[in-house]
Amino acid sequence: MSDFEPKILGFLCNWCSYAGADLAGVSRYQYPPNIRIVRVMCSTRVSPHIILEVFKAGADGVMVGGCHIGDCHYITGNYYTERRVKLTKELLALAGIEPDRLRLEWVSASEGEKFANVVADFVKQIKEIGPSPIKNNQEMMTRLSAAIQAAKIFRVKLVSGKELKLTTEGNVYGEKIDQERMDAILKSVAQAEFKRSLILELTKQKALSVKELADAIGETPDTILDHIVVLRSKNLIALSGIEGSSPKYKAILVGGV
Ligand code: FES
Repeated sequence: MSDFEPKILGFLCNWCSYAGADLAGVSRYQYPPNIRIVRVMCSTRVSPHIILEVFKAGADGVMVGGCHIGDCHYITGNYYTERRVKLTKELLALAGIEPDRLRLEWVSASEGEKFANVVADFVKQIKEIGPSPIKNNQEMMTRLSAAIQAAKIFRVKLVSGKELKLTTEGNVYGEKIDQERMDAILKSVAQAEFKRSLILELTKQKALSVKELADAIGETPDTILDHIVVLRSKNLIALSGIEGSSPKYKAILVGGV
């Protein structure tokens, strides 16, 4: 699509990447005007659900820029950024959106030329991937809403937030968890919470049976039933009636939401 001009939002940390972007401008390095910049104090202030909201609003790509590892002005902020971006990519994939639409870059205050090159390369990459697939796609919008809800769930935030400590310092017994195992734990927690959030999103719209949910989500009825048991224990979903021999479930809306 030759006339496609991607809309890209860039979250840049105040101390390095934003200053790098500033230097690119002052030094007159040319880069495509497809990016709009939001300045944040540290790259780690950009929570996964915020990035997902940006995609829901129609962005074709999102870039997070921070200081090089070891240079974060809040010492460990960008170590957490790496984990948050990894979780966000996982949730994007679950929503059916190409994870490569999200890019993390380390650009220092003295790297104006690098900033210009990174933006040019990202714009080229997004042009190759194409426009955001969520436009006019209600099913994908529902999945993205579920990903946003999943990103806000405490268990997901906890596993993502503890990853650095558990892989470098270890748990309370001093036992370190290797990176591969930690990745598998994060993936499984993100998947489970995404599916529960998707059940809630779908049953907000109308009451559905386990079989209907299993078909819509692409899961086995047994797994869906397990999720419904958890959601019922949290008072998030209720039995709304029985059609034939199938119980139908409806999300419990809090404050009409
Ligand atoms: S201040 Fe730049 S990444 Fe934290």
